[in-house]
Amino acid sequence: MIILNATNFATDKNIMSRAQFHLLSISKTRELPDGVAITFDIPDKLFSTFKYIPGQYVTLEASINNKIIRRTYSICSYHQDNCLEIGIKRIEQGVFSNYALSLKPGDQLKVMPPEGRFIRPIDEQKTDDQKPAHTLLVAAGSGITPCLSIAKSVLADEKKSKITLLNGNKTINSIMFRADIAALKDDHTERFNVINMLSQEKQDIERFNGRISATAVRDLNADGLIIIGDFDNAYLCGPMDMVNSIRDTLLELGMQQEQVHTELFTTEKFDAAATNNAFQTQNTIKHKNGAGQHQVTIMLDGLQTDINVDSSTDTVLSAAQSAGIDMPFSCAGGMCCTCRCKVLEGKAIMDANFSLADWEVEAGYMLACQARPSTDKLVLDFDSV
Ligand code: FES
Repeated sequence: MIILNATNFATDKNIMSRAQFHLLSISKTRELPDGVAITFDIPDKLFSTFKYIPGQYVTLEASINNKIIRRTYSICSYHQDNCLEIGIKRIEQGVFSNYALSLKPGDQLKVMPPEGRFIRPIDEQKTDDQKPAHTLLVAAGSGITPCLSIAKSVLADEKKSKITLLNGNKTINSIMFRADIAALKDDHTERFNVINMLSQEKQDIERFNGRISATAVRDLNADGLIIIGDFDNAYLCGPMDMVNSIRDTLLELGMQQEQVHTELFTTEKFDAAATNNAFQTQNTIKHKNGAGQHQVTIMLDGLQTDINVDSSTDTVLSAAQSAGIDMPFSCAGGMCCTCRCKVLEGKAIMDANFSLADWEVEAGYMLACQARPSTDKLVLDFDSV
């Protein structure tokens, strides 16, 4: 990989690096069923940098066994707290999650500012004569993490809004943040409806047994245990199959596309495989059309850098990393959207896309971790996204 040239085109000195990490101290850790919650202190000078909208995530970076590892974790805290808490589920053989279990107060980690479009903006100005919003949260396993931040923030700041949480787990004891959910329910009995669906433990109400599925949602709706027509919006977070089937079911039951928000739950195994590909530039997918060398111009943090990309072996991200460009990325698997950029000239094909909406693709947005150029020249802008 050869860097052809690097020039500074920025006139705006305020362009902040999207890949910039900040060293944050851990103020608290607490044990969760098969996981850990980690709270970071946010210094005053970084307060606005780390301000977040409920539903967003952060990317962490650590050197583990001499390898740089990045992972994204959703924020679970109330959005006005002056600290930030994330939930990490332990994955068997998971390099980062097992490392996270050993972290303790006082330790420091590199953390990227919050990102993500799975957001539930809080409307504190809602007037009494406005209809209170009713939000449906559907979570499976650790998919509860962003939903918890949404529930805490909505219930605290929108005085009349309601939340219904459909939470899928194996057993009662495996529910992540079970105590937090119970405390929230105690504080907001009238406005917080919780339905726990358990797949490996029998409950008295038959409808609450089993996994969250399209059939389960239809049955709950038919029985009046949830009323889809009541919801102003829905937020779904969990494995891809569950998220896709529940989204389709909600649309079929009358919700509109723009009311349904989804976030795919990425397993650390998936992240690790994808990250290794990105770091080791070993992706060997061949494109019949457009394989070979392409000139790619990367506009990032006010710098314009040209690199050569061999689309038969490299994505834009893996080529940029080989060229020493510190490009924003996390999962490297098309799921987190951290590497989102806009095509200003030329064309590229994505290997996969689990996070960009159709309108974004139509508007020319691209995931650099999945993008392989298909024209001789490709210009990607990471700054105006
Ligand atoms: S780095 Fe996560 S989608 Fe590209």
